[in-house]
Amino acid sequence: PEDLISHEFDDLSPHDRATRQVKNNIRHAGASLLCPVPDGAGLQRALDMTPGRIIEEIEASGLRGCGGAGFATGRKWRFAAAAEAERRVIICNADEGEPGTFKDRVLLTERPHLLIEGMTIAARAVGATDGILYLRGEYVYLRELIEEVLQDRRDRGLLGQGIGGAEFDFDIRLQLGAGAYICGEEGALISSCEGLPGEPKTRPPFPVTQGYLGLPTVVNNVETFCHAARILDKGAQWFFDMGHEGSHGTKLFSVSGDCLNPGIYELPYGLSVRDLLAMAGGEDAAAVAVGGASGTMIARDQFDRTLSFDDLSTAGAVVIFNGSRNILEIVEYYMSFFVHESCGYCTPCRVGNVFLQKAIGKFRDGLANPEDIDYLKDLSGTIIETSRCGLGTTSPNPILTTLENFPLIYAATVKPSKDRIRASFDIQSA
Ligand code: NAI
Ligand code: SF4
Repeated sequence: PEDLISHEFDDLSPHDRATRQVKNNIRHAGASLLCPVPDGAGLQRALDMTPGRIIEEIEASGLRGCGGAGFATGRKWRFAAAAEAERRVIICNADEGEPGTFKDRVLLTERPHLLIEGMTIAARAVGATDGILYLRGEYVYLRELIEEVLQDRRDRGLLGQGIGGAEFDFDIRLQLGAGAYICGEEGALISSCEGLPGEPKTRPPFPVTQGYLGLPTVVNNVETFCHAARILDKGAQWFFDMGHEGSHGTKLFSVSGDCLNPGIYELPYGLSVRDLLAMAGGEDAAAVAVGGASGTMIARDQFDRTLSFDDLSTAGAVVIFNGSRNILEIVEYYMSFFVHESCGYCTPCRVGNVFLQKAIGKFRDGLANPEDIDYLKDLSGTIIETSRCGLGTTSPNPILTTLENFPLIYAATVKPSKDRIRASFDIQSA
């Protein structure tokens, strides 16, 4: 990817460079979401199709959810369309909160019309009348912009009653989060929209059959809706042909950390971490957190792994660390994040993550025993198996993936156990 590296913005401040890098990278990667092409054609095409045909188009494209889990979007829409109900709901999850993820913010800022278009297409496909755009509390500064976009679309007949002259009514309200990471989990997000405390719901039933106020609800990420709008514009085959088997299309990556060119990169699925590091000027990385705090921390010998659903699946966070960073401090920081953000509903997540954080602190301080490695593994397994939602089932990932990929760091920090000291003393005495 040498030809993808540009030194055009070397003189800019990191912030300006990150912003300008967006356009720079789009041009090079031949990507679709952030390209300055006019929006609107996707909705127009959708209005000329039957709802069933729209779902077929999304299914044929291979689009999968971009919030991290990768559930097939067409399948989700089909489930919601098939659910028995008088009203259906579309919710956009714009509560991105994973440490190191900031790509939805760029879409909300640069492509708000594309996003609303995608939500409107989804509404047409499943027969929804109500839409909610759930915006991360920290993105409150985008409220005015989004309200303006919604009003502009109402004024142009693209939202509200009789959209595009068709018998199709759909409107969207904006709802602001209040800064809780857990509200990015779809059950907690729906609870929050209902005016309840932001706590996850037990699944099944899944939102597609019983979501907001018990109505069939499609919850998709910002990026997923934007892709859907482009797919309706350019056709399923165009999207399907990008990426590779099982991971079609492009993906936005939020690249940050120890690299020369942090920013948003839109790339076809299937590139290696090494390729992305070369583009971002992060070749001297010693570790990369793919997927942020809840993702996978990989070491140098794994940089040929690919960014795809069947290898390193991620909502988009790519955080780069060079050799000057203390891996255990990073892990401890990530664990403190989960301790802070756990909603507290289940004991293993509420208490277990505190214990994990303390145990990692022992390793960082050189006070851990060899048995503490088993303790980390056992407790992590318990939290994963017994937690109610994705926060608990992914919170031990920083520990488990570093234990697996950086074993020497843990081994180097443990004190020999008393048994081992005694054994070595016995050998010496003998
Ligand atoms: P999940 O795999 O349980 O569900 C994914 C989606 O598919 C949901 O919308 C769910 O309702 C739907 N779904 C799953 N099975 C279904 C079925 N049988 N019928 C109908 N619908 C079904 O994943 P989950 O727990 O919703 O999300 C966890 C993911 O979120 C993790 O992979 C993590 O990477 C990601 N994440 C993203 C963050 C962000 O800021 N974007 C933050 C933290 C985690
Ligand atoms: Fe709350 Fe954690 Fe349980 Fe999820 S796993 S419901 S965040 S306590």
